[in-house]
Amino acid sequence: MKKKILVTGGAGFIGTHTVVELRHAGYEAVVLDNLCNSSPKSLERVRELTGGVEVPFCRADIRDREALDALFSQHQFEACIHFAGLKSVGESVAKPWEYYENNIVGTLTLLDVMRRHGCKNIIFSSSATVYGDPLQIPITEECPKGQCTNPYGWTKSMLEQILTDMQVADPEWNVVLLRYFNPIGAHPSGRIGENPNGIPNNLMPYITQVAIGKRECLGVFGDDYDTSDGTGVRDYIHVVDLAVGHVKALEAISRRCGLAVYNLGTGHGYSVLEVVHAFEEANHLKIPYVIKPRRAGDVAQCYSDPSKAERELGWKAQYGIFEMCRDSWNWQKNNPDGYGD
Ligand code: NAD
Ligand code: UFG
Repeated sequence: MKKKILVTGGAGFIGTHTVVELRHAGYEAVVLDNLCNSSPKSLERVRELTGGVEVPFCRADIRDREALDALFSQHQFEACIHFAGLKSVGESVAKPWEYYENNIVGTLTLLDVMRRHGCKNIIFSSSATVYGDPLQIPITEECPKGQCTNPYGWTKSMLEQILTDMQVADPEWNVVLLRYFNPIGAHPSGRIGENPNGIPNNLMPYITQVAIGKRECLGVFGDDYDTSDGTGVRDYIHVVDLAVGHVKALEAISRRCGLAVYNLGTGHGYSVLEVVHAFEEANHLKIPYVIKPRRAGDVAQCYSDPSKAERELGWKAQYGIFEMCRDSWNWQKNNPDGYGD
């Protein structure tokens, strides 16, 4: 029998790509999402990419204990991959209560329902943001966590602590904390991808919206950092590689890994201008940009040492910056209005 995995937030950007990879790897994925930042059409596209079988979907909120209870009574889940959460850094500064309530109360509710139903295996979407201004570059998992610069980051840091404490208290739990670096790109088919509301906060969606003519010009936030060209350096990772990382993490859970923490990145840092130039080369386009002041809360450099994931999970990013730029644009140009709703 196929192992059943609950994917919270499975209609979103990383969730949809992960459901595709789970299905390819022979798992059955059940998606729970309240659609606050996604479209139900995304799951139709996932179905199309994975042989036409409908994706079981429950439209519900992770804070809705009754709905979770009903879902866990209906299915015997092997594990949960927990993506559901609010993720906009700027919005979290303006609405801290909403972020703490959605992300922390939601996760606490989910964890309680899970343990009551005897499902104690979870993969949690964390972020490199928990390292704050990193004490070492490249960043290994041993690098101490730092001060986050916004409530969104604190929800990740606090939830890591909560999950760690729960696993220590009850070793039946297997908890994998995956610290993502900067996910970009899209499925190479161009059928699923990132669909931000309003003005994009993140670099790659902004670039693709300039390329398609929705925005005039990219603002580069600061050119006076201590980096090769003065612009901020990040570890961009193709979302399909990231998705595969979750499948590998499930294998670790089936080996009863206890508590495990992994960086998911490529280990390569690219500056903002290097990304702009890579995008121009990969897609034969010109991206106009202007230098703007630094953005509050940004660090100069953030890139991973991903060797632990390779050693222990047998996972390594396969795609480079060229494919990330190509696939981001392929998605944007084929879906200028995202899923069109
Ligand atoms: P996304 O917004 O596309 O997906 C999150 C999904 O969760 C959405 O479909 C949304 O509708 C759903 N959701 C939010 N709150 C919910 C709730 N209370 N109940 C049910 N569903 C809810 O975001 P993403 O980029 O796919 O990110 C997935 C996870 O990875 C998030 O937890 C995010 O914080 C984390 N993460 C993302 C990045 C990134 O740059 N994209 C980096 C590090 C970590
Ligand atoms: N940048 C620009 N112009 C833009 C947008 C971004 O110059 O319009 C620059 C930023 O200053 C930074 C780089 O591009 O140097 C990347 O910025 P992103 O906003 O794309 O990504 P961040 O590294 O700031 O943040 C991402 C996720 C967060 C996560 C964080 C750490 O969006 O959710 O990585 O993991 F917390």
